[in-house]
Amino acid sequence: MTSNPESKSDTAQATPDRPTTPTASFVVVANRLPVERVPGHDGEEWRMSPGGLVTALEPVLREKGGVWIGWHGVSGEDLEPFEASGIQVVPVPLSREEVTEYYEGMSNATLWPLYHDSVAFPEYHREWWDAYRAVNQRFAERVAAVAGEGAIVWVQDYQLQLVPRMLRELRPDVRIGFFLHIPFPPAELFQQLPWRRQILEGIAGADLVGFQVPKDAHNFVRLLRQMLRYETRRDRFSAPGGRIGRARAYPISIDVEAFAQLSDSPGVVARAQEVRHDLGAKTILFGVDRLDYTKGLRQRILAVGELFSEGRLDPEETVFVQIATPSRERVEEYQRLRDDIELLIGRINGSMSTIARSPITYLHTHFPKDEIAAMYRAADVLIVTPLRDGMNLVAKEYVASKTDGSGALVLSEFAGAAEELKQAYIVNPYDINGMKEMILQAVRDSPAAKRRRMRALRRQVLNNDIHVWADAFLHDLDLIGYPTTLES
Ligand code: G6P
Repeated sequence: MTSNPESKSDTAQATPDRPTTPTASFVVVANRLPVERVPGHDGEEWRMSPGGLVTALEPVLREKGGVWIGWHGVSGEDLEPFEASGIQVVPVPLSREEVTEYYEGMSNATLWPLYHDSVAFPEYHREWWDAYRAVNQRFAERVAAVAGEGAIVWVQDYQLQLVPRMLRELRPDVRIGFFLHIPFPPAELFQQLPWRRQILEGIAGADLVGFQVPKDAHNFVRLLRQMLRYETRRDRFSAPGGRIGRARAYPISIDVEAFAQLSDSPGVVARAQEVRHDLGAKTILFGVDRLDYTKGLRQRILAVGELFSEGRLDPEETVFVQIATPSRERVEEYQRLRDDIELLIGRINGSMSTIARSPITYLHTHFPKDEIAAMYRAADVLIVTPLRDGMNLVAKEYVASKTDGSGALVLSEFAGAAEELKQAYIVNPYDINGMKEMILQAVRDSPAAKRRRMRALRRQVLNNDIHVWADAFLHDLDLIGYPTTLES
C-alpha cells in the first residue's frame, strides 16, 4: 500500500502512519530514500524502488517495524514521514544550497574522487565541509527522534560518515552499524583530507564498521591507531571511554534469486531474442554503468575501438552495446566525461560504420530493469573495467542472470568484486593492450572454457547473495558489546 506524503504546511495532525514517538527498533539511514514518486489513483504516490539494499533490508524493516531515513532526491521540499509499500519512511530535507555543497560538493567532488584512488582531482572547500557537517547533524537528529530505546541503527555510505559519532552523542543507548559502500583509501590519500580526524572519529562512533574488502578495513584500523592513537587489535579498536568497536569486510551482493527469475521470465527471454535479432550480430559485447569517471569507460571504449579499427573484431559480426546511465549531471567532472566519451564513440562510429550498422551502440539513458535483464541474457561478453570500484554489482548481476551457464565476464582487478570473481577474465584497465588481448580471449575462447569459468563464478555468486551479506552484518552488530576487551 502506498500513501501520499504531504508537505508540512498541508498537514495538521500526525496520522498512525507517521512515527511521532521514538519507537523504531531498527533504523536504516542512507543519503537516499529507496522510493520513487509515481502517478497513483489520486495524484502521486510513493513506491519502494527496486535495489539490492532495499530487498535485503525490507524483511528486517517489516519484521522489526523499522524505518528508513534519507533524502528523497528533490531540493527545498520538506515532507512528513510516510509509508511506502508498507515501510515507514522519514524524509530528510535538503535545501538547494545543501544539494550543491553537501551532495554535489563534499560528497561527490571531494570524497568520491579521493576515495576512488583520486582518479579525478578532489576539491577541498571549507563551505562544503560546513554543509556536510550540518547535514550529517540533521540526519543524526532525525534518527535520534525516531529510534526506540536500544534500537539498532544502520548508517550507510560516504555521505554520512559523521552520523555515527553525532548519533552516539545524542543517543548513547542505541547500537550503531556503519557500512561504506565505496573503497576506503590508503593512508597516503586519506591524509590529504583537511578534516581527516573528524571523519575517522565520525565513523568510529559506530560499534561495527563494514567495508567491501579486508584491505580497506585494515587501512581504517591502521589510521585509527596512527592518527587518533586508538588502541587496536586485529579488527577491534578501543574508542574513548573504553568502548570496543570492530571493523571488518562484508562484501555486498545482489538479490540473486530475483535476477535469475527475471532473466528466465518469458518476457525477458523473448526480448533477449528480439535484441539479438535486431542487433544482427554474431557476438554482442555489453557494458552498463552509471556515467562515472571511476568506471573506466574511456579506456574500455578505446580498447574496443582499437580492436575494431585493427580488424581484430569485425564490425560485420560484432557489436558493442554501452549503456551509460545519467548520474550527478551538475558536477563538472561528470559533464567533461560525457563530452569525452561521446566524442570518442562518435569518432569510432564515424570512421567504422556502414549505412546499415555501427560497431558501438551507445545509449545515455535510464533503462528499466527488465530491459537490462534482456541485455544480460543476450550478451556474449560483459565488460566491466572500473579504475576503482567498491564492489561493482553489475558484474554479479550478469553472472546471476546467466542461468544457462553461458557468457563471459571481463572484469577489472580494481573492482572489489574481483576478489570473489577470480574466474573472470581479469584485466588492468590502465593497460589498454592487455585489456584488448583479454577481451579477444573472452570472445574467442571455446564454449567449454567459458562455461567452466562461468560455473565457478555462478557458484560464488549464488552462495553469497544480499541476504547473506545483511545477515552477517546484523549478526555481528548484534553480538558486539558483549566482549568488553580488545582481546576477546
Ligand atoms: C554509489 C554510492 C551510493 C549512491 C549511488 C548512486 O553506489 O555508493 O551511495 O547512492 O552510487 O549515486 P547518487 O549520487 O545518484 O546517489
